[in-house]
Amino acid sequence: MPEENIHPVTDKLLDRPTKELSLGARAGVFWLCGLSGSGKSTLASELELSLSQRDIHSIVLDGDNLRSGINQGLGFTDEDRMENIRRTAEIAKLLVRNGLVVIVSLITPLKRYRQRVAEIIGSSDYHEVFVKASFDHCQKRDVKGLYAKAAKNEIDFFTGKSSDFEEPSEPWLVLDTENQSLCQSAETLEAKVLEVISRS
Ligand code: ADX
Repeated sequence: MPEENIHPVTDKLLDRPTKELSLGARAGVFWLCGLSGSGKSTLASELELSLSQRDIHSIVLDGDNLRSGINQGLGFTDEDRMENIRRTAEIAKLLVRNGLVVIVSLITPLKRYRQRVAEIIGSSDYHEVFVKASFDHCQKRDVKGLYAKAAKNEIDFFTGKSSDFEEPSEPWLVLDTENQSLCQSAETLEAKVLEVISRS
């Protein structure tokens, strides 16, 4: 369909500040990246809970959940990961522009994926959180049993083994879940997020 025939409606919709006001916080995207098993999903759900206890509404976009729905059928090749991440960034963009606090939990292993995410969302709304734990540490925890499967070569393109993970060079926040308890990391994350989303 030619793009000239597409007419997005923007002027009749409620604007972002109006929605932020009714939702009780400034909007923003907090994008948690890191290896599988590093603690991203736990930190995302802890943050959602602690914000709700302050009457702040947020939404979690989790890789495994999205891959069971809107991103079903996408695998772990470079092309599929890019599409998985691009779609998630587009959803996050829609949500943040509608006044929401968005918490994303996706491995997002490569710098160029994260650069694309920042471009889609816009750098002022994008907050990159590196959930830092080494491959060996995640392998020892192996919450989902995936590292054991990967060691037996039962998983293709496994992040950190047969597919690269590039550490973020200048993340907004680093949470060292290997050397800190998840509880400590959750507290740090909540405090930093509140600095951004609290209304003055
Ligand atoms: S991403 O690379 O495209 O950002 P995403 O976060 O959506 O990945 O999905 C990662 C989740 O998929 C992991 O937490 C794990 O449960 C599951 N998974 C299945 N296969 C793989 C794989 N080859 N590499 C990493 N994670 C995998």
